[in-house]
Amino acid sequence: MIRWPAEAIWEAVAPLLPGFTVEILPEIDSTNSELMRRARAGLTEPTLLVAERQTAGRGRLGRDWQSAAGDSLTFSLGLPLAPADWSGLSLAVGASVADSLHPAVRLKWPNDLWLQDRKLAGILIETAGLVAGSAIGQAVIGIGLNIAPRPASGLSTPPACVRELLPDADAASVLERVAPALVRDVLAFQQAGFAAFQARFASRDALRGRPVTLSDGGAGIAQGVSETGALLVHTAAGLQAIASSEVSVRPAAP
Ligand code: BTN
Repeated sequence: MIRWPAEAIWEAVAPLLPGFTVEILPEIDSTNSELMRRARAGLTEPTLLVAERQTAGRGRLGRDWQSAAGDSLTFSLGLPLAPADWSGLSLAVGASVADSLHPAVRLKWPNDLWLQDRKLAGILIETAGLVAGSAIGQAVIGIGLNIAPRPASGLSTPPACVRELLPDADAASVLERVAPALVRDVLAFQQAGFAAFQARFASRDALRGRPVTLSDGGAGIAQGVSETGALLVHTAAGLQAIASSEVSVRPAAP
């Protein structure tokens, strides 16, 4: 049985986020799907929802997210947010989690956490109730972290795990390490936008200066991220700013 630090997290976060609750579920399809269902039903209280096991975990770009109880940490933070500009939120979340984990963690635009070019964690951000012309909406910030070694099945590179950096880590201790700082950083993003995170992202940027290929067929040298979180790529046609997270990017094969 996992001993989750629900009370410690609640005590750290509730003063910043009135109405905040922590919920731990033994099993659910997906913590993001559940918080999105609640948001659509009008249930928007700030919630940290942790699942010991997900039966239908979801990743970006319609991919699935595989995890194993105990060997992975899967959770979502749902809260109403009203930033002046939403762009760069996923990069800010990546910077927050990386800073809470270890100096060796790198960020691969837009929001993967990498260790030595292998994926350590992924982030899926969804919004509900965002109406054109209004900035307020319910953000659902889902994070999946590999805690213990995971099988490489179906992946081009075997995943990394937190225990490579923190040998004693388990899902509960990693949640306590990342969750309160994540809430603080998301609230800081709401106030100040991505500008407050640009330097933090840059200091961990895994792609900067490297040749990259883009899923839209483009290629070039990554030049860091703009003040709105767009990936800057120097291509044959000049400097291109990629804002859409529908475009995926990977280091070019050596
Ligand atoms: C990605 O790298 O493609 C994003 C992966 C996000 C996975 C997390 S696990 C918790 C939350 N619930 C989900 O179904 N997905 C996110």
